[in-house]
Amino acid sequence: MSDDIALWDTEADTFDEAADHGLRDPAVRELWRELLLDLLPPAPARIADLGCGTGTLSLLLSEEGYDVTGVDFSPEMVRRARAKAPELRFVEADASAPPLDPASYDVVLSRHVLWAMPEPAAALSRWQDLLAPGGRLVLIEGSWSTGAGLTGAETASLVEGLGRTATLRPLPEAGYWGRAISDERYVVTG
Ligand SMILES: C[S@@+](CC[C@H](N)C(=O)[O-])C[C@H]1O[C@@H](n2cnc3c(N)ncnc32)[C@H](O)[C@@H]1O
Repeated sequence: MSDDIALWDTEADTFDEAADHGLRDPAVRELWRELLLDLLPPAPARIADLGCGTGTLSLLLSEEGYDVTGVDFSPEMVRRARAKAPELRFVEADASAPPLDPASYDVVLSRHVLWAMPEPAAALSRWQDLLAPGGRLVLIEGSWSTGAGLTGAETASLVEGLGRTATLRPLPEAGYWGRAISDERYVVTG
Protein backbone atom coordinates (compact mmCIF):
# COMPACT_ATOMS: atom_id res chain seq x y z
CA MET A 1 0.00 0.00 0.00
CA SER A 2 2.73 2.53 0.91
CA ASP A 3 4.40 1.93 -2.47
CA ASP A 4 1.09 2.67 -4.20
CA ILE A 5 0.64 5.86 -2.20
CA ALA A 6 4.16 6.98 -3.08
CA LEU A 7 3.48 6.26 -6.74
CA TRP A 8 0.33 8.38 -6.79
CA ASP A 9 2.10 11.10 -4.84
CA THR A 10 4.64 11.35 -7.64
CA GLU A 11 1.83 11.54 -10.21
CA ALA A 12 0.10 14.39 -8.42
CA ASP A 13 2.30 17.22 -9.64
CA THR A 14 1.52 16.69 -13.33
CA PHE A 15 -1.82 14.91 -12.94
CA ASP A 16 -4.00 17.81 -14.04
CA GLU A 17 -2.10 18.24 -17.30
CA ALA A 18 -4.09 15.45 -18.96
CA ALA A 19 -7.19 16.93 -20.55
CA ASP A 20 -9.65 14.67 -18.71
CA HIS A 21 -7.87 15.07 -15.37
CA GLY A 22 -7.60 18.83 -15.00
CA LEU A 23 -10.56 19.71 -17.26
CA ARG A 24 -8.71 22.93 -18.05
CA ASP A 25 -10.09 23.13 -21.58
CA PRO A 26 -13.59 24.61 -21.30
CA ALA A 27 -14.91 22.36 -24.08
CA VAL A 28 -13.65 19.20 -22.34
CA ARG A 29 -14.96 20.42 -19.00
CA GLU A 30 -18.39 21.11 -20.50
CA LEU A 31 -18.62 17.59 -21.95
CA TRP A 32 -17.85 16.05 -18.55
CA ARG A 33 -20.31 18.40 -16.86
CA GLU A 34 -23.07 17.37 -19.26
CA LEU A 35 -22.21 13.68 -18.93
CA LEU A 36 -22.21 13.74 -15.14
CA LEU A 37 -25.41 15.74 -14.88
CA ASP A 38 -27.02 13.18 -17.16
CA LEU A 39 -25.90 10.33 -14.89
CA LEU A 40 -26.61 11.85 -11.49
CA PRO A 41 -29.81 12.57 -9.60
CA PRO A 42 -30.66 16.28 -9.48
CA ALA A 43 -28.73 18.48 -7.06
CA PRO A 44 -28.61 18.73 -4.16
CA ALA A 45 -27.57 15.15 -3.51
CA ARG A 46 -24.74 13.68 -1.46
CA ILE A 47 -21.86 12.32 -3.51
CA ALA A 48 -18.85 10.33 -2.34
CA ASP A 49 -16.05 10.83 -4.89
CA LEU A 50 -13.79 7.87 -4.14
CA GLY A 51 -10.18 8.15 -5.30
CA CYS A 52 -10.89 11.80 -5.99
CA GLY A 53 -7.32 12.67 -7.01
CA THR A 54 -6.81 16.42 -7.30
CA GLY A 55 -10.53 16.99 -6.76
CA THR A 56 -11.43 18.09 -10.28
CA LEU A 57 -14.75 16.21 -10.44
CA SER A 58 -15.54 17.02 -6.80
CA LEU A 59 -15.20 20.72 -7.54
CA LEU A 60 -17.16 20.55 -10.79
CA LEU A 61 -20.06 18.84 -9.02
CA SER A 62 -19.91 21.15 -6.04
CA GLU A 63 -20.29 24.06 -8.44
CA GLU A 64 -23.44 22.35 -9.72
CA GLY A 65 -24.92 22.29 -6.22
CA TYR A 66 -23.97 18.79 -5.04
CA ASP A 67 -22.71 18.00 -1.55
CA VAL A 68 -19.43 16.22 -2.32
CA THR A 69 -16.99 14.39 -0.07
CA GLY A 70 -13.72 13.25 -1.64
CA VAL A 71 -11.56 10.37 -0.46
CA ASP A 72 -8.00 9.65 -1.60
CA PHE A 73 -5.04 7.96 0.05
CA SER A 74 -2.39 10.12 -1.61
CA PRO A 75 -1.42 13.09 0.58
CA GLU A 76 -0.18 14.98 -2.48
CA MET A 77 -3.45 14.44 -4.35
CA VAL A 78 -5.48 15.49 -1.31
CA ARG A 79 -3.30 18.55 -0.76
CA ARG A 80 -4.05 19.70 -4.31
CA ALA A 81 -7.74 18.90 -3.98
CA ARG A 82 -7.98 20.98 -0.79
CA ALA A 83 -6.17 23.88 -2.50
CA LYS A 84 -8.51 23.64 -5.49
CA ALA A 85 -11.71 23.39 -3.46
CA PRO A 86 -11.06 24.61 0.11
CA GLU A 87 -14.77 24.56 0.97
CA LEU A 88 -15.09 20.82 0.33
CA ARG A 89 -14.32 17.91 2.64
CA PHE A 90 -11.48 15.69 1.47
CA VAL A 91 -10.58 12.65 3.56
CA GLU A 92 -7.12 11.11 3.30
CA ALA A 93 -7.91 7.41 3.51
CA ASP A 94 -7.97 4.07 1.73
CA ALA A 95 -10.87 4.10 -0.73
CA SER A 96 -11.15 0.33 -0.63
CA ALA A 97 -12.72 0.74 2.83
CA PRO A 98 -13.84 4.39 2.91
CA PRO A 99 -14.29 5.77 6.44
CA LEU A 100 -17.56 7.50 5.53
CA ASP A 101 -21.00 7.15 7.08
CA PRO A 102 -22.83 4.10 5.75
CA ALA A 103 -26.19 4.43 3.98
CA SER A 104 -25.82 8.19 3.65
CA TYR A 105 -24.79 8.95 0.06
CA ASP A 106 -27.04 9.28 -2.97
CA VAL A 107 -24.15 8.53 -5.29
CA VAL A 108 -20.83 6.77 -5.07
CA LEU A 109 -18.81 8.21 -7.93
CA SER A 110 -15.44 6.92 -8.91
CA ARG A 111 -13.37 7.65 -11.98
CA HIS A 112 -10.43 5.43 -12.86
CA VAL A 113 -10.04 3.96 -9.38
CA LEU A 114 -11.92 0.64 -9.16
CA TRP A 115 -9.34 -0.95 -11.45
CA ALA A 116 -6.62 -0.10 -8.91
CA MET A 117 -8.34 -1.84 -6.00
CA PRO A 118 -6.53 -5.06 -4.99
CA GLU A 119 -9.94 -6.72 -4.54
CA PRO A 120 -12.42 -4.79 -6.69
CA ALA A 121 -15.46 -6.90 -5.73
CA ALA A 122 -14.83 -6.44 -2.00
CA ALA A 123 -14.22 -2.70 -2.45
CA LEU A 124 -17.37 -2.30 -4.52
CA SER A 125 -19.41 -4.09 -1.88
CA ARG A 126 -18.17 -1.59 0.72
CA TRP A 127 -18.91 1.27 -1.68
CA GLN A 128 -22.45 -0.01 -2.01
CA ASP A 129 -22.78 0.10 1.80
CA LEU A 130 -22.33 3.89 1.62
CA LEU A 131 -25.47 4.28 -0.48
CA ALA A 132 -28.74 5.48 0.97
CA PRO A 133 -31.86 3.69 -0.25
CA GLY A 134 -32.30 4.45 -3.96
CA GLY A 135 -28.66 5.50 -4.30
CA ARG A 136 -26.53 4.67 -7.30
CA LEU A 137 -23.01 3.73 -8.31
CA VAL A 138 -21.39 5.74 -11.10
CA LEU A 139 -18.16 4.06 -12.19
CA ILE A 140 -16.07 5.61 -14.94
CA GLU A 141 -13.41 3.13 -15.91
CA GLY A 142 -11.39 1.87 -18.82
CA SER A 143 -9.36 -0.95 -20.24
CA TRP A 144 -6.39 1.02 -21.45
CA SER A 145 -3.84 0.43 -24.16
CA THR A 146 -1.24 0.07 -21.38
CA GLY A 147 -2.91 -3.22 -20.38
CA ALA A 148 -4.20 -1.79 -17.11
CA GLY A 149 -7.84 -1.41 -16.24
CA LEU A 150 -11.12 -3.28 -16.31
CA THR A 151 -13.24 -3.98 -19.37
CA GLY A 152 -16.78 -2.68 -19.42
CA ALA A 153 -18.05 -6.25 -19.18
CA GLU A 154 -15.89 -6.87 -16.10
CA THR A 155 -17.13 -3.73 -14.35
CA ALA A 156 -20.75 -4.47 -15.26
CA SER A 157 -20.33 -7.99 -13.92
CA LEU A 158 -18.93 -6.66 -10.63
CA VAL A 159 -21.94 -4.38 -10.25
CA GLU A 160 -24.37 -7.16 -11.10
CA GLY A 161 -22.60 -9.35 -8.54
CA LEU A 162 -24.00 -6.97 -5.92
CA GLY A 163 -27.52 -7.69 -7.15
CA ARG A 164 -27.78 -4.38 -8.98
CA THR A 165 -28.71 -3.73 -12.59
CA ALA A 166 -25.69 -2.41 -14.50
CA THR A 167 -25.93 -0.04 -17.46
CA LEU A 168 -22.83 0.31 -19.62
CA ARG A 169 -22.30 3.46 -21.67
CA PRO A 170 -19.20 3.56 -23.86
CA LEU A 171 -17.26 6.84 -23.91
CA PRO A 172 -15.26 6.64 -27.16
CA GLU A 173 -15.65 10.33 -28.04
CA ALA A 174 -12.33 12.17 -28.33
CA GLY A 175 -13.86 15.20 -26.66
CA TYR A 176 -13.77 13.55 -23.23
CA TRP A 177 -10.09 12.75 -23.47
CA GLY A 178 -8.66 15.64 -25.43
CA ARG A 179 -7.52 13.26 -28.17
CA ALA A 180 -8.72 10.32 -30.22
CA ILE A 181 -8.58 7.03 -28.33
CA SER A 182 -8.51 3.43 -29.47
CA ASP A 183 -8.92 1.67 -26.13
CA GLU A 184 -12.11 1.01 -24.16
CA ARG A 185 -13.45 3.79 -21.93
CA TYR A 186 -16.90 3.82 -20.45
CA VAL A 187 -19.17 4.48 -17.51
CA VAL A 188 -21.16 1.83 -15.70
CA THR A 189 -24.08 2.90 -13.54
CA GLY A 190 -25.89 0.63 -11.18
C1 LIG B 1 -6.28 7.78 -12.11
S1 LIG B 1 -6.41 8.72 -10.64
C2 LIG B 1 -8.10 9.33 -10.76
C3 LIG B 1 -8.37 10.57 -9.94
C4 LIG B 1 -9.78 11.15 -10.06
N1 LIG B 1 -10.77 10.15 -9.76
C5 LIG B 1 -10.01 11.69 -11.45
O1 LIG B 1 -10.67 11.03 -12.25
O2 LIG B 1 -9.51 12.80 -11.74
C6 LIG B 1 -6.55 7.49 -9.38
C7 LIG B 1 -6.65 8.08 -7.98
O3 LIG B 1 -7.03 7.04 -7.09
C8 LIG B 1 -6.26 7.15 -5.93
N2 LIG B 1 -6.22 5.81 -5.32
C9 LIG B 1 -5.74 4.67 -5.88
N3 LIG B 1 -5.89 3.65 -5.02
C10 LIG B 1 -6.46 4.16 -3.90
C11 LIG B 1 -6.87 3.63 -2.64
N4 LIG B 1 -6.72 2.33 -2.35
N5 LIG B 1 -7.41 4.46 -1.74
C12 LIG B 1 -7.58 5.78 -2.01
N6 LIG B 1 -7.21 6.36 -3.16
C13 LIG B 1 -6.67 5.55 -4.10
C14 LIG B 1 -4.93 7.70 -6.37
O4 LIG B 1 -4.23 8.34 -5.32
C15 LIG B 1 -5.37 8.67 -7.46
O5 LIG B 1 -5.60 9.95 -6.93
